[in-house]
Amino acid sequence: MPVLLTADLPADSVPVNTHLLRRRAERLLELTGQQAGELSVILLGDGRMAELNRAYRQKKGSTNVLAFAMREGEGPVTGPLLGDVVISVETAVREARREGISLHRRLTVLLIHGLLHLLGFDHERSEAEAEAMEARERELLTLLHCERRRGTMTKLAINVDHVATLRQARGIVEPDPVQAAAICELAGAEGIVVHLREDRRHIQDRDVRLLRQTVKTKLNLEMAAAEEIIAIAIEVRPDMVTLVPEKRQELTTEGGLNVAGQQKKIAQVIGRMRGASIPVSLFVDPDSRQIKAAREAGATFVEIHTGRYCDARTEEERDTEFALVAQAAEEAYEAGLRVNAGHGLNYLTAARVAALETIEELSIGHAVMARAILVGLDKAVREMAALARQKQ
Ligand code: PXP
Repeated sequence: MPVLLTADLPADSVPVNTHLLRRRAERLLELTGQQAGELSVILLGDGRMAELNRAYRQKKGSTNVLAFAMREGEGPVTGPLLGDVVISVETAVREARREGISLHRRLTVLLIHGLLHLLGFDHERSEAEAEAMEARERELLTLLHCERRRGTMTKLAINVDHVATLRQARGIVEPDPVQAAAICELAGAEGIVVHLREDRRHIQDRDVRLLRQTVKTKLNLEMAAAEEIIAIAIEVRPDMVTLVPEKRQELTTEGGLNVAGQQKKIAQVIGRMRGASIPVSLFVDPDSRQIKAAREAGATFVEIHTGRYCDARTEEERDTEFALVAQAAEEAYEAGLRVNAGHGLNYLTAARVAALETIEELSIGHAVMARAILVGLDKAVREMAALARQKQ
């Protein structure tokens, strides 16, 4: 086994995806020409790390990463055993928060740093060596595709369901979601989303058909995996569909789709959509099981549910929920899925999600429409598009 990963974490530690980290460690061995090498990666909490820091470096407190090489003295490694890279996950969590990056990205940076120490790099020897080590770290991170991999800015898709809700409240013809969609596009939205519910409480069949003709960017049809709606999707051919769970009593989509619990059924719907050349996105909670099931079912995209992150009542809770979103997005990206995110995002919470390098597009409805009532739709969309595009 080239990489032995051991996690000895405190009970209240944030979850770490050890599979993802092991895969990255294995890939790093390849990238550094150490295919035959064996590496031990140990994940600890601050308490155990502080003990090691005191015992081996006579230093007080915890640190982020320590590397214990198997080789004796200076010079390149000769045997297969490279040594141990020990990482404090608790310190990594704090550093990730400070830098506004995902925990797994921070763990990857620390893994690279530790591995380079095992391979003979040492930033403490001289400035030139510090520069060389830093350059190699950046290079390996890029090779691992952890840098901004999409190469483009995060896009904004606007959900115009609420415009239809207002129209239906009066049972007349205005306001028209088709007109609203045009304004959103003119203001910079790069996609229009509508949810054709089985009970037709807001968007109507007529809206979907007209939008198919008028939307210039991309029409994303949100829908339940229900026979009647599947038939409409196949006939109208939106640019993509997003499968969501649907309950009659809910005010809005409440949770993610349980893909793992109905993988066969979802795979069949995806197969039928593929027959009509319609890519499918699955709206899922930030949960590894659902991501894995989405990939196995043949989805092209997942849309990560950001509701719990947005609904968090304390900063701490929000950070924890954000870490779950970031991790799920990273897992989905690594699995070859394209990754969108949405639900509950507003002018305070959107930018942090948009800044994740794995996220391609945000899907936002309520916050933009609520602001539009007060400041106008054009202005509300422009303001949100600027947040989505900004790099943090
Ligand atoms: N994504 C999905 C799958 C949704 O169901 C919704 C709500 O219609 C949204 C995004 C947009 O959520 P919000 O209206 O809270 O921005």
